[in-house]
Amino acid sequence: MLYPVNEENLALAAAAIRRGDLSAFPTETVYGLGGDAFNPSALAKIFEAKQRPRFDPLIIHIADIAALENIADLSRLDLSVQEKIRRLSAALWPGPLTLILPKKPSVPDLATSGLATAAIRFPSHPAAQALIRLSTGTVAAPSANRFGCLSPTTAEHVAEQLGDKVDIILDGGRSSVGVESTVLDMAHGTPRILRPGGTSRDQIEAVIGPVAMGGDADSNTVTAPGQLKSHYAPGVPLTVHRREEMIALNDEAATGYLFFDGASRDAWLAAECQKGAGRHIRVLSEKGDAVEAAANLFAILHEMDRPGLSGIRAELAPSGGLGDAINDRLSRAAAK
Ligand code: TXA
Ligand code: MG
Repeated sequence: MLYPVNEENLALAAAAIRRGDLSAFPTETVYGLGGDAFNPSALAKIFEAKQRPRFDPLIIHIADIAALENIADLSRLDLSVQEKIRRLSAALWPGPLTLILPKKPSVPDLATSGLATAAIRFPSHPAAQALIRLSTGTVAAPSANRFGCLSPTTAEHVAEQLGDKVDIILDGGRSSVGVESTVLDMAHGTPRILRPGGTSRDQIEAVIGPVAMGGDADSNTVTAPGQLKSHYAPGVPLTVHRREEMIALNDEAATGYLFFDGASRDAWLAAECQKGAGRHIRVLSEKGDAVEAAANLFAILHEMDRPGLSGIRAELAPSGGLGDAINDRLSRAAAK
């Protein structure tokens, strides 16, 4: 059930987490399905609700940098890396950045899938922060979707996918960033972006210098957890295309077209004058703004993922900044 964000409902949701139940809640990236990170039975409920394989570890959310100490053991890292972590947390938290750090032994294995590291994020959404503070201070939360399905950017998306699995869905409107956090591994030598997301590589490099890119996103085997290629998938088959290719495409009317910006849609329409009539055409950002495009991405994919469409053609974003996160999600959606 949907509960608008207010003091009373935050208290209800926090009480549920404290007693070992789950609450779904808004964050600036996507909605999360939260449970007490230190309660193994709450963690088991998260996997059960998402039908998520045990090998995919969870992000632990905090609302206060001091809480990092309850989860991470920074003493196992070089002093220079510890310094980078301090700078990152000062510059980019709260926000859409998740750090992979050596974990304390007290963190339950179910939260980290038995890894020696934990994923930690300090979200900027005020309702997320309030819920974390009012509950246990450390809330494990994956995106509140069924495993392999589209990530939710509204409370309604959560209700569609998990409405029968979670009693309380805090409704804070649409997530402003719209793609998940960037996952940055700080625990294995050179900092490495395992998942591009709401914080760009440039933003990170401005704080700590060069970072490496990519886990093993090209494979469907799980050597780096959570990097399954097929993910974030709509039910309708989706293919991705570069701009020139997209503009030249002309399928049957039941194919949906998702353009990055208004200019490429107009070029496509101009290529054959009346082609637009009765077509399913959507644009991520009229003016080609990657931030706006990322915020719209999952909501538009949800809308296009309806019976009646035989396929979706999606245009890749220009690379760099949030374009990398958008292209990562589109490519995973295409890799069925
Ligand atoms: O924006 C977000 O990050 C959202 C909101 C709710 O905060 N959460 C989210 O969680 O996207 P989830 O569970 O859908 O994705 C977590 C990602 C997965 O790819 C997982 O494998 C990776 O983080 N991850 C978690 N712990 C890890 C670890 N110890 N080492 C490497 N990757 C890890
Ligand atoms: Mg997810």
